[in-house]
Amino acid sequence: MKILVTGGAGFIGSHVVDKLIQQQCRVVVVDNLSSGLREHVNTAAKLIEMDIGSPELLALFEQEKFDYVIHQAAQTTVAQSIDRPDRDCQVNIAGSVNLLEACRKTAVRRIVFASTAAAYGNAADIPIPESAPKQPTSFYGLSKWTVEQYLALYRQIFGLEYIVLRCANVYGERQGNSGEGGVISIFSKKLHERRPVTIFGDGGQSRDFIYVGDVAAANCLALTAKTCNAAFNISTGTETSLNTLVKLLEQAAGIKLKKYFAQPREGDIYRSSLDNTAAGKYLSWQPQMPLSQGLGRTYQALKQPGLNQREGREW
Ligand code: UD1
Repeated sequence: MKILVTGGAGFIGSHVVDKLIQQQCRVVVVDNLSSGLREHVNTAAKLIEMDIGSPELLALFEQEKFDYVIHQAAQTTVAQSIDRPDRDCQVNIAGSVNLLEACRKTAVRRIVFASTAAAYGNAADIPIPESAPKQPTSFYGLSKWTVEQYLALYRQIFGLEYIVLRCANVYGERQGNSGEGGVISIFSKKLHERRPVTIFGDGGQSRDFIYVGDVAAANCLALTAKTCNAAFNISTGTETSLNTLVKLLEQAAGIKLKKYFAQPREGDIYRSSLDNTAAGKYLSWQPQMPLSQGLGRTYQALKQPGLNQREGREW
C-alpha cells in the first residue's frame, strides 16, 4: 500500500516513516522542512518538499494515488500558538483542510491524524478518557480539536475514514531542543551542556511522557484497525511531575541539574495524563518503553549525535 506521511521529516513523522518502511510499505513524505530535517527522512521514502497548504498538493495526490495518509505536519508548540494564533490557524487548520480536500477528491481510504492531549485542557478526571470535555487552554489545542471536528464532518458528508490519535507528551531521539522542543529534549541538552534549567511554575505540574517509538507503532496500527472514525489517546496513563522528571534525568545522566523557577507559561495546563484503555482494546496497542529507559536513550542520542540519525537507531 502507498502511504503519504505529512511532516515525515519531523520528529514523530520520521519515526513513523521508518516503521512503515520496515513493514515494506511504499512511503511518500510531504514536508516543507520548516522544522524537519532532510537527513531524518528514510532513504527508502520519497521526499517532496511542499507545504501542506500548497495549491499544488491536489496535483500530487492525483499523480501519486495514495491509499492512506498519516498527517503529522503541524505547528506543534503551545507557546508559539499563543504568540501567533494566526500562524497556528493557517498551518494547523487551513493546511489540514487543504489536505482533507485532496484526500476526498482522490478517494484516499483513511487518514490518521496527530491530535493532542492539549485538546482537553484542564480536565477534572485524571487519567483523561477520550469522552472528557474538550476545553483547550491554548490555540494549539484549539486548532487540533477543530481539525478533529472537520474529520468527523468529512466522514459524515464525504465518507472519508479517519482515526485520531490524541498523543500525550512525546519524547525521544530527534526531538528539537531549541525553544520549539519539548521539556525532555530541552532539559537533556542543558544537562549535557552542564547548564541550568528553568522550570516554569513550581515543578509540580505533571505530564504523561510517551516514547516516540511507541507513538510510531500506534500510527501504523491505526492504518488498518477495524474500529475507525474515532479518537484514541496514545499515552502511558501515568503522571510524572517536572520535579520527578528532573530527578530521573539526573539519574539517567549521572549529573546534577541546577534549577531556576520562573512564572508559569501562559496557556499551560497543570496536570496531564491520558487513559489509554481504548487504544489497547481497539488498536491492540500498548506502550512498551519505560520512562527511565527512554530518558537514557534520549540522553545518549544527544551525547552521540550519530544516534539521532535514522541509521543509528535500534528501535
Ligand atoms: C507538549 C507538546 C505538544 C503536545 C502536548 C501534548 C512540545 C514542544 N509540545 O506541550 O506538541 O501536543 O505536549 O500534551 O513537545 N517547561 C519548563 N521549562 C522548559 C520547557 C518546558 O518548565 O524549559 C514546562 C512547561 O511550562 C510545561 C511542561 O514543561 O509545564 C511541558 O512543556 P512542553 O514540553 O513544552 O510540552 P507541552 O506544553 O505540554
